Parts: sequence; structure tokens; C-alpha cells
Amino acid sequence: MDFLQAIQPERVPAHVAIIMDGNGRWAQNRGLERAQGHIEGVKAVRRITEAACRVGVRYLTLYAFSTENWNRPQAEVNALMGLLVSCLHNEMPLFMKNGIRLRIIGDKNSFSPEVRQAMNDALRQTENNTRMDLVLALGYSARWELTEAFRQMARQVQEGKLQAEAVNADKIGEFLATSFMPDPDLLIRTGGESRVSNFLLWQIAYAEMYFSPVFWPDFTEEMFYESIVNYQNRERRFGKVPAKPAGV
Ligand code: IPE
Ligand code: IPE
Ligand code: MG
Repeated sequence: MDFLQAIQPERVPAHVAIIMDGNGRWAQNRGLERAQGHIEGVKAVRRITEAACRVGVRYLTLYAFSTENWNRPQAEVNALMGLLVSCLHNEMPLFMKNGIRLRIIGDKNSFSPEVRQAMNDALRQTENNTRMDLVLALGYSARWELTEAFRQMARQVQEGKLQAEAVNADKIGEFLATSFMPDPDLLIRTGGESRVSNFLLWQIAYAEMYFSPVFWPDFTEEMFYESIVNYQNRERRFGKVPAKPAGV
């Protein structure tokens, strides 16, 4: 089946979030260092970013490095940091050609000055692009994000800038790192695990989940299109009853 052809353009999810998992196992299965898997994973990032742009996804959020990933062996962390810096630089033509605005959610202060500099440069260079936002979750975890938000809210209450009565779901959303975009419609996780691993816990309340057994470096455009077709065949009820009662 040609999944690209099968996508209904008017029902493309506005926001797709991806937990890109399986780089390490992809490499280990080939007798390679885990870092090789991350290098191969960058190619998949390029492929899927272009595919998302092509079908009209407005926001693509990629979980690239979690708060907990700092606890990996130093050599792997170093390899990931090197890749990140070179990627932010080398992928600039791809971003500019496709009108992609880069965004970063996560604790930027946890990164070295060199990495922060590369992040800031890339953010600035792409800030006028409007076709798609590519949101990289770096040094990100949902509990970090929520803790920051709660602390900020508490501070504003203390200072008399925020009334307790004014706190509702929309207000909380304003304090999150994702305040500039809508919640994900579709959450994809590659690599075979069925868990969320501290990603966007608040924002995925009503996201459709799609789990693929394929390791991230092997994830193709066609598989991405398939996930969108699968999403389009679902009924999102948001707690209500079906639009058309089935089988009566
Ligand atoms: C995901 O792949 C990429 C990052 C977390 C940086 P992994 O490195 O987690 O790969 P597996 O899950 O060990 O195979
Ligand atoms: C989630 O993958 C984080 C990223 C993809 C960046 P992990 O491999 O770190 O998650 P766990 O350890 O399987 O939960
Ligand atoms: Mg993993």
C-alpha cells in the first residue's frame, strides 16, 4: 500500500511527537558501538523531518535527549553532544530549504557553553521560518518541566501576580516549555518499548499513541506515513460518545 497517497491532507495531525528509541540496540545488533546507532539515527531524523514537512505537519517534536540520559556512560554522552553540535550546524541547509523553525524544550543550562552556543545560533538563524516548527526535546523530562512550571507559578502567587483562582488547565499550559504550540495529536515511539519515559506527561492527555517495533535508525518515511494513516483511521472521542453509534 502507498501510505503517502492514502493520507487525507485535511486531517494531517498538526502536532506529531516522537520518542526516537532503539539507536543503541540497532548498533549492538550489528556488533557496533552504541554511538554508531546515534550517528545512523541522525539520518532518520533528517528523513522524518522532511517527510513531516512534506505532508504538512505543523509541529514535529523529537525526544532527543532526556534528563535521565545524563546518567549514561560518559563516552556515550560525549558522543551524543558532539553529534548534536555538528547536527545543529550541518542541518542548517535542510532547515532553511524547508522553512523549518528550530525550537528547543528542556533544561538548556544543563549543557556545556559550547553546546548552548550551537543551540542559540541555530535558534536564531531559523527564527523567521514559518512552515514547520521542529521542536527538539533536549535535557528534557516532563517532571523537570512541570517542576519548573510549579515553581514559577508559586513565585508569581507569592509576588501577588497570580491568583490561585486563576489557575486552570490553560493557565498551567502557559507555564510549560511547550506553551507556543498545541498538544500532540499523535505520539509515536519506535524501538519496541511501550512506555512514555517522562515525555510530555501533561500534553499527551488525549494524544493517540502509536508504538512501532522498528529501531529508530530503520524507521522510514513510509513507516511514518503509515502511522499517520493509522491515526486518521481512529476516532478521537475526548471522553464523549461516538459520533455515529456503531452496529445498532
Ligand atoms: C534513543 O536510542 C536515543 C537516545 C536516548 C539518545 P537509545 O540510545 O535509547 O537506544 P536503545 O533503546 O538503547 O536501543
Ligand atoms: C527515551 O528513551 C528518551 C529518548 C528517546 C531521548 P530511553 O531509551 O532513554 O528510555 P528508557 O530508558 O527506555 O525508558
Ligand atoms: Mg532507549
